[in-house]
Parts: sequence; structure tokens; C-alpha cells
Amino acid sequence: MLQVKNVTVHYGKALAVDSVSLEVNEGEFVAVIGPNGAGKTTLFKTISSIIKPTSGEIYFDGVRTDVLPPHEVAKLGIAHCPERRRLAYRMTVMENLELGAYLRKDRGSIEEDLRFVFEMFPVLKERKNQKAGTLSGGEQQMLAVGRALMSNPRLLMMDEPSVGLAPLMKEKISEAIETIKKERNVTILISEQDASLVLSISDRAYVMETGKIKMQGKGKELIDNDYVKVTYLGL
Ligand SMILES: Nc1ncnc2c1ncn2[C@@H]1O[C@H](COP(=O)(O)OP(=O)(O)O)[C@@H](O)[C@H]1O
Ligand SMILES: [Mg+2]
Repeated sequence: MLQVKNVTVHYGKALAVDSVSLEVNEGEFVAVIGPNGAGKTTLFKTISSIIKPTSGEIYFDGVRTDVLPPHEVAKLGIAHCPERRRLAYRMTVMENLELGAYLRKDRGSIEEDLRFVFEMFPVLKERKNQKAGTLSGGEQQMLAVGRALMSNPRLLMMDEPSVGLAPLMKEKISEAIETIKKERNVTILISEQDASLVLSISDRAYVMETGKIKMQGKGKELIDNDYVKVTYLGL
């Protein structure tokens, strides 16, 4: 479904992503784990076409996307749930969710998706008329995930959904992601510094360090890998 081929990205002269190749197949749950500064956010922004690569190519369903503007990529069915949420803070919870659905034509299913989001995150329903900027960090993250889901994407990209959250809230977000995986017909690409949150629920994962893919494998295999254990799971 998604193919990233030898993608290199610079900020000015600084190299951020170094010849990365990655694939996500339809229906898969794929994680990119790596420390701060590894290039995960840059990679995700490049997949969304927010940043243009210096070299390399990206394809979605065989369509080359790195040459398209971001809204065209969104229309193809890629939703990007950005790092540190970036919501419309002055708008209400409900308005943010509606914003997520603005590209859709299938009005009938929007109601259904809204119900799913509210069922998964009841606190969003309780606070639907509250301004997004007044939510707690965890609630904002729920809203960001909910908003991305409201676009009914084929590929849902979540960039470090747990960053900056307290352990209990991290757990909640991770459970919600598992629910999405089980109940929605959506392919997921997620980045995380906290490998323990995603490796056990991912089909495959890539380890990214200083702009490069250092290793890849099935989620379960990586959990058993000595390097991953010591470096990312603190075992
Ligand atoms: N807007 C930017 N301008 C210049 N350098 C940046 C910018 N954003 C990120 N970088 C640099 O690119 C590298 C990768 O960063 P990033 O993609 O944010 O990594 P991660 O998401 O894995 O923490 C880092 O060295 C970072 O300092
Ligand atoms: Mg990041």
C-alpha cells in the first residue's frame, strides 16, 4: 500500500532522513521506533508531503505522492495525526472532529464514525462543546486521534501519540490504538520512542536511529532481540 523508496531529507544542509526504505501493506500495523532526533517526524511529514525529500520516491497504491501537495495526499486516504497534536485550539471538540471529516462525501457514515470515536473516548463526548485548547494533554491527544479517524483514512499515521503523557494516559492511548486496530478497517503506521507501548501490538516494526533504518522485523521478534531489549525496552 505505502512504499517509501530510498528517501533522503535535509533541512538546509543538515541530513535528517538518510536513504530510508519502508513498506506498509494493506491492513498492517507498522511501528517506527527510535529515540528523539532519529528522524521519525521528518519521515512522517515527508510521507504526508508536508516536507519534500531531497531524493527518493514515495508511492501510495502505486501513485507517486512525494510530488503531490499535502491536500492531494490527504485525499488519497492518508491521515496524519501529528506529533504534539496541533489541533484547532480555539474551536470546540466537536468542530475539530467535523474538521477531520471535511473532505468526505459519505455523509451517512460520518455519524457512525463519530459514534465510534465517542465510544472509544467518552470524555470527548462529555466535552464536545469545550474549546480544544482547554483540554488536558491526554484529552487533546484523544481528540487528535479522533479527528484523524473522522477522515475515514485508509492509512492512519500517528506520530508519537504518547509523547509527554503520564503513564496512565499512555496506557489509555495505547488501548485505544489497539481498539482501532481491531475494529476499524484501517492500516496503521505509528512512531514511538516508547517501544513497550507498540511493539507487542505491531505486526512489523522498524528501528530508526540518526536518520537510518537500523533494523526491522516482526514486532514479536524485535521484542526478543537483545539490542532492542537493552536499548528500547530497558530490560
Ligand atoms: N524544522 C527543522 N529544521 C532543522 N532541523 C530540524 C527540523 N526539524 C527536525 N530537525 C532535525 O532533524 C533531525 C530529525 O528530527 P525529527 O524528525 O524531529 O526526529 P524525531 O521525530 O525522531 O525525534 C534532528 O536532528 C532534528 O534536530
Ligand atoms: Mg518526532
